[in-house]
Amino acid sequence: MNDKQLVAIEAAKHVENGMLVGLGTGSTADLFIEELARRMKEDKLKCKVVSSSAASARKAGDLGLQLMEMADISHLDLYVDGADEVTPDLTLLKGRGADLVKEKLLAKAAGQFFVLIDQSKLVSRIGEKYPIPVEVPPFSWQLVKHGLENAGGKVVLRKKDDQPAVSSHGSWILDVTFEPRLDAATLDDLLNSTPGVVEHGIFRGLARGVFMAENGSVTQRWA
Ligand code: 5RP
Repeated sequence: MNDKQLVAIEAAKHVENGMLVGLGTGSTADLFIEELARRMKEDKLKCKVVSSSAASARKAGDLGLQLMEMADISHLDLYVDGADEVTPDLTLLKGRGADLVKEKLLAKAAGQFFVLIDQSKLVSRIGEKYPIPVEVPPFSWQLVKHGLENAGGKVVLRKKDDQPAVSSHGSWILDVTFEPRLDAATLDDLLNSTPGVVEHGIFRGLARGVFMAENGSVTQRWA
């Protein structure tokens, strides 16, 4: 069993009958979906799920999980997702999968948000390993790019097969770096107050628990 499977199994132990569970996006979130499906079959666990992306919805549907539409919910019990970077104060960088709007909506609306990582995701500051993903409607990308460049950022439109990468609901993604690096609070405020940004990858004050696998064992950190 690999480290990502270990944290997925540990997080799935927290799911109880009757819960509405949010499904994240990415390879670790996929393993959590698989473990949830196993528990539903073998332990007769009864829960409903809501997905953060078309990919997770497809996976959940294929495994027979009972999917709710996001438009039909106003609260969920638990949201479980991976992350690209995690700092000691449990600030996260997310968004390599390009579905930030739904991910942050679910993380914020959930009673609890659990983050599943391996040790390679730990950083001392946000932006250490990856640029900050910034989700924009296609019509605003040039203006947002210009605005963030004026604020000192280097901005690259994310591409897939030579075309702009598109999120589940039609946004494009700008990958932004600042040199010298800005702290997460300053970046968060800057991106929150930039018109035309629909969402970005800094998740501050949202994670309740981080499950981290390291050499075959799982440690938990709680906010
Ligand atoms: C998607 C994300 C993912 O959770 C993040 O990229 C981690 O992915 P993985 O579990 O595959 O390492 O933020 O937008």
